[in-house]
Formats: sequence, structure tokens, C-alpha cells
Amino acid sequence: MHPLPQIVVLDAGGQYCHLIARKARDLGVYAEVRASETPAAEMEFARGIIISGGPNSVYDAGSPTVDPAIFSSGPAVLGICYGQQLMAHLLGGEVRRGEKGEYGLATLKLDDSSNPMFAGLAGWQQVWMSHRDTVVGLPAGFAGAGSTETCPIAAMAAPERRLYSVQFHPEVAHTERGREYLSHFLFRVCDCHKDWDPRHRAPLLEQEIRECVGVRNVFFFVSGGVDSSVAFALCRRALGESRVRGVYVDTGLMREGETDYIRRLGGIAVEHAERQFLDALAGVTDPEQKRHIIGEEFVRVQERIIEERSLEDERWILGQGTIYPDTIESGGTVNAAVIKTHHNRVAGIQKLIAGGRIVEPLKSFYKDEVREVGRELELPAELLERHPFPGPGLAIRRLCAEIDAPVRATADGYMIPVNSVGVQGDSRSYAPVLAIDQPDHARATALINRLSGVNRVIACVAAHAPVSQMQVSACSLTNEGVARLRRADATVRRLSHESGFDHQVWQFPVILIPLGTGSDAPDSVVLRPVDSVDGMTARSVEIPAPLLQKMCAELLEQEGIAGVFVDLTHKPPGTIEWE
Ligand code: XMP
Repeated sequence: MHPLPQIVVLDAGGQYCHLIARKARDLGVYAEVRASETPAAEMEFARGIIISGGPNSVYDAGSPTVDPAIFSSGPAVLGICYGQQLMAHLLGGEVRRGEKGEYGLATLKLDDSSNPMFAGLAGWQQVWMSHRDTVVGLPAGFAGAGSTETCPIAAMAAPERRLYSVQFHPEVAHTERGREYLSHFLFRVCDCHKDWDPRHRAPLLEQEIRECVGVRNVFFFVSGGVDSSVAFALCRRALGESRVRGVYVDTGLMREGETDYIRRLGGIAVEHAERQFLDALAGVTDPEQKRHIIGEEFVRVQERIIEERSLEDERWILGQGTIYPDTIESGGTVNAAVIKTHHNRVAGIQKLIAGGRIVEPLKSFYKDEVREVGRELELPAELLERHPFPGPGLAIRRLCAEIDAPVRATADGYMIPVNSVGVQGDSRSYAPVLAIDQPDHARATALINRLSGVNRVIACVAAHAPVSQMQVSACSLTNEGVARLRRADATVRRLSHESGFDHQVWQFPVILIPLGTGSDAPDSVVLRPVDSVDGMTARSVEIPAPLLQKMCAELLEQEGIAGVFVDLTHKPPGTIEWE
């Protein structure tokens, strides 16, 4: 089916790890992700090995490591971020523990050099950094190749041994010349050839589906998102419409109009489970618990549907829109940091997989490759260009609070006692939010870097009262809150679509926080438009003033809304969702 990978990406726990593999594939080279400890002897077929970043320090007990034999086993090696630190550490260099770290954009000065990796890239350039520790002493035989203000060895090389590393992230879009770094490694250092093209794949995929399914039929749980819709369409093309059924579960946590939208896609039955989800979530405030409950209810509904429709029968198998990063983030490799909860690998489904009763035609594809397949199938642009929407739906965009609490004035702004999730390095944290009075992105970034215990900065752009007079009120997940958020989200989506702004952003979550002026207006809306390539990193995007004004005017008219804020936080350190 697939060639052996020319490039193996060793997963040291970093959330960008599969982004590296995807970037290699974008460059036309088939790459796969493996566990970091994979023995060198099992990767001799590869032309190159890339060690990913990760949240740990090389000094942490049990931190991911690699088989040291990879540094002399044949394939060239590139270490990225933690990968650089690990390379330095294992080869006798010195890594210094960092206190605060460096997150976000930095300016790299790459030195002149003649080695195949760095030649032609010398000069000042913008790079993306996300690290705490730093390499301060080179291993024997290595030369430093570049530096930033806070990082004396931001790149290093031992060209005769074909070992290279960088402290920054070339795989991330915000590293200006990142693609060139990866391309140099693949084609100049590793001498890879092009063996991967995500286009023109539909006939091959349909053939694979027919071989996998045989004479059986396929049923899908579709979400309305790109992945499951493309997988569903592929199966219908491969097997004929009568042999493929889709069920969509209405959890009551979906956006306005979603169920009607699904009906229009055709061939999909709607299972109503709104009551079941909302009852199970009643009184819950903790974000992890919300996710957990939603996951469990999904399993219950799925099991019920399977039973009611006799899908356990041998004649049926399960179709899924699983894509490559899902298999990794759900534990496909040992170190993968758990970034989100997926439903693709729950116990019942594992049983079907073990019994060979599952077809996942897109499981080695990345999101943009899936869109490419969708275009090949001539699926409507409206579907393929949909912004991603999380499985747990509006539940992770309705923030809850345990107790009533006032906002607290500080020298930098107002601390809002609502815990939102952030990702620093690679681990998740929940912390209060700082509100400032102007949507000033530069100031927000500086504040986050300076203040510990804050992973998100927002600015108030319109309100019925000053932030100083607002307070957070205790609230849990209720139908009323979800309905209020759904209304706000529909308004923002409509205005964003009418103005064309939705095409300028990758995703535009609308969040409801329990910050208001009392029982008449207990909540505020946070707008979070982000630009991203795949959700792994993201930049907060400015909303054009006329559009923002329209949004604020309409939102402040709505029942229960006291204020409108914009989220100025990039990812890292703030995740896209608030949870
Ligand atoms: P975060 O919040 O981790 O989100 O920066 C990154 C991307 O993942 C999406 N997301 C999810 N998608 N099920 C999904 O299908 C989930 O549980 C889930 N959680 C987050 C999020 O919308 C963003 O695009």
C-alpha cells in the first residue's frame, strides 16, 4: 500500500511531531512517526531520522530518549527543539535547564556555512521557538551554526557524520524559511526522492476500501466535519450507496442549523440524544470532566445504535474518518502528549478493529491531504472549507465556574477568575485570564511572556459596564447557557461569512464565559479568530474594525450578554479552545 518511509520522525512527545511528518510529505517524501525509543536496527531502511520536540527536560526522570546507535547507524539525523537538546545531551554536550523559556517568535542569526543543511540560509530570519532548556555546550565534533538573543546555540552541525539540529521549529508555518530547512535535510542531506503525492488518490483508495470491506456493508458515525464526510463519500463511491449507511448523533451541543445541514448531505440518519447529553452534564463545571462525560455518552449512544440496528451482525463493519494525527494522539505512539480526547479508539471500537471489522480509508492522511481527496471527489467547497469544529461541541466553549468571584485589578489589567486551558511547552495548564483594555497583540504577547500563571490575555471591546464592575458567577453546563452560546456563535458566523472574514481565518471559536453584571447579564462573549495551518500552532488574528463593531452591536443586544472580548493569545501559550 505505502512505500517504506524514507523519513522516520521519532516522537519525543511533542505536539508538532506529526506536523514534521506532514511537512516532509508536503515536500513529496513519505514519512512516518515512530516511538522515540525505536531501536536503530529497526530503521535502517530510512534515509533520515528526525527527532521531534517534546515537553520534557533531558534531566527529567523518565523523559523520552532515543537509541544512541541512531547517531552512527546510517540514516542522517536532524534534531528539532527537544531533539536538539537530546542529541547534545547523548553526545556529550551541555544542556542548561531554563526557568522561563522562550515561546513565540524570535530572530535567528544563522551563520554562513558550506554544509548541505545550512548552506544558502545564512542571515537574520524569523523563527518559532517553544522551549525551556537550552544547549550551551557543543558535543565534540559539532560546530554551532546560529543563535538568537536568548539561545546561544540555536542550530548545530556535524556534517561529516550527517548530524544536524535546530532549537527552533522549522515545521511550523511561523518559521519564515522553515520549509527550506526541511527541504535541505530531505533532499541535500538525506538524498530522498519524491515518492508521495496526496492528489489523484481516490481510485486507489476506493480499491483499498473494496478489498477491506469485501461483501460486507459499512456504517458510519458522521460528524458533519471534513474527515468523516470524505471517508463516507469515498465508501459510497467504492461500494454503492445502498451498502453504506451514516448516522449522525445530535448531542444538543452542536451549532445552530447543524442537524439540517447534515440532512442536506444525504444518506445520513439523525439520532436525537440531546436530553441524554445535557442530563449527564448537568451541574458539571470541570473541563476534563465535561470531556470525559461526553466521551462516555458517545460510547453509550454508539452502543445503543449498534444494538438497535443489528450492526453487530457479521455483515456490517464500521467506517471511520480517522486521519493520521488521530491515530497518534490517541496513543499510537508511547510519548504522544494527550492533546485532545478522541472517540475513534474507544473500547467497543477497539474490539471491532481487533476483529478486522473497520475501514478507515484516510488513516494515513493529514487534514489538507483529506481536503485534496475531497476535491478529487468533487465534494462541495462549502463542506471542504468548513472550519474544524471539536467533537465535544459547544460544551468546551461554554466556560463554567465553581464559585462567584470578583475580578481583581492588577498593575497590568484585570484578572478574571475563569480557568481556561493553555499549553506551555507541551503540557496543559488551567489558569485565570488577564483582561486588558485595548486589543494590543504585542502588549498581550509581552505580558504572557512576563507573567507566570497567565496563559491567556483578552481585551474588552464592548460592554454594558466597565470590566471593574463585572464579576464571575458560579455556573455549570446548562441548556440555557448552551443556547446563549449557540445564538452568539450563529451571529458571529453569519457576520463573518457575509463579510468574507471566515475565509481569512482557519477557525473562529466563539466562547461564552460567566463574566457579567448580575443575573440579567451574567455572561460575556470571547471572540477567538485564529490563523493556523493545522491547529498545532496558531496566531490570534485581528478582526477588521467595522466587522468587529457590527458583531459587538448585535451581541450586546442579545439576552444575557454583558460584554464582548477578543482573545489576543497565540498558541502556544493559549490553546485554540478554552474548554
Ligand atoms: P486546541 O484547543 O488543543 O485545539 O488548541 C486544536 C484543534 O483541535 C480541535 N479540537 C478537537 N477536535 N475533538 C475534535 O474533533 C476534540 O475533542 C477536540 N478538541 C480540540 C480544536 O477545535 C482545534 O481545531
